[in-house]
Amino acid sequence: MDGFVYMEVGLDRVRGSGKHLQADSTRHSSVRGVSPPKRGTATQGHLLNWVHCLIRLPKMNSITPSESAITVFPSGRPLGAEIRGVDLRAVTDADFAAIQKAWNDHSVLLFRGQQLTDDDLIAFSRRFGDLDWPPIQETGRRFVEGYPEIYVVSNVIVNGEPIGSLGAGEATWHTDMSYLEDPPKASMLYALEVPPSAGNTYFCGMCHAYDSLPDALKRRIEGRLLKHDGTYNSGGFVRQGVTAVDDPVTSPGAYHPLVCTHPETKRRALYLGRRRNAYVQGLPLAESEALLDELWSIATREEFTWHNEWQVGDVVLWDNRCTMHRRDPFDPNSRRILHRTQVKGETRPTA
Ligand code: OGA
Ligand code: MN
Repeated sequence: MDGFVYMEVGLDRVRGSGKHLQADSTRHSSVRGVSPPKRGTATQGHLLNWVHCLIRLPKMNSITPSESAITVFPSGRPLGAEIRGVDLRAVTDADFAAIQKAWNDHSVLLFRGQQLTDDDLIAFSRRFGDLDWPPIQETGRRFVEGYPEIYVVSNVIVNGEPIGSLGAGEATWHTDMSYLEDPPKASMLYALEVPPSAGNTYFCGMCHAYDSLPDALKRRIEGRLLKHDGTYNSGGFVRQGVTAVDDPVTSPGAYHPLVCTHPETKRRALYLGRRRNAYVQGLPLAESEALLDELWSIATREEFTWHNEWQVGDVVLWDNRCTMHRRDPFDPNSRRILHRTQVKGETRPTA
């Protein structure tokens, strides 16, 4: 691509939907779906009212790979970008290549205004790889009927039984399913119903967190393994089939390197999973706790975060290998329903 984006404008108004085309030159637009009036059609009569031209604008931060009409709007934070100009039910190969590049660049992607069935959500998720099955819900209930790949995140109660996980309280910082030996590389949440306010989801960038560690701290954690607890989910609920153990040394879980190398970007990332019952192998418990507290206080600094204020139709895709996330509580009397998929990692977390 030549480093420019093109915006079609009329003399007295901008054509196309306001969502994709904005007169504000700090925004960048693609021209898919916008065509000048055709000759010989009813619009010809209006041609005198229009002076059409394509304005050529420098690209600045946006990425618009050739053949794809998607546009990337970086959040300006260490992670997070919104992708516009794509219907996730019809993603071309060129769009997908652009999405993958944006995902590697920004770790978390937001797609607004989507209209997906569970089949559509699964089909788009599968572009990234095979899907993992999610954990069994706290209630022992499993999955959406017929869709074992879907994890329901919801506070809604039907016939006295929650239809999903995590309730309406805070979900504390975590990485999905890292208590497994082979955790999923990606998760994708699709918002079906959202409360009028709150319930925002925050993400933090673990490559930035690692890069910002003092050298002495980097040396202390080099080569160390960390236990990722399998007792509690991020809502504080004990997982199905697990007897709660509150000793980090003996609690169930998987050990992973405390610093991992991202298999695609090759960047190094802190890999913390979740704080509760975490344990740095080989250290006295008190020393492990102090080290983890220090690492966590850096990793979750506000400056390393980006958050989404959910709207119905939002899809958020994140990279579990280099981000963590948490959720604010929300009014338990309001309804929130999101469906999640998770994509298998090709490799285990590796130093
Ligand atoms: C998840 C999760 C947070 C939320 O689905 O993995 O942590 O915003 N959800 O509900
Ligand atoms: Mn999660």
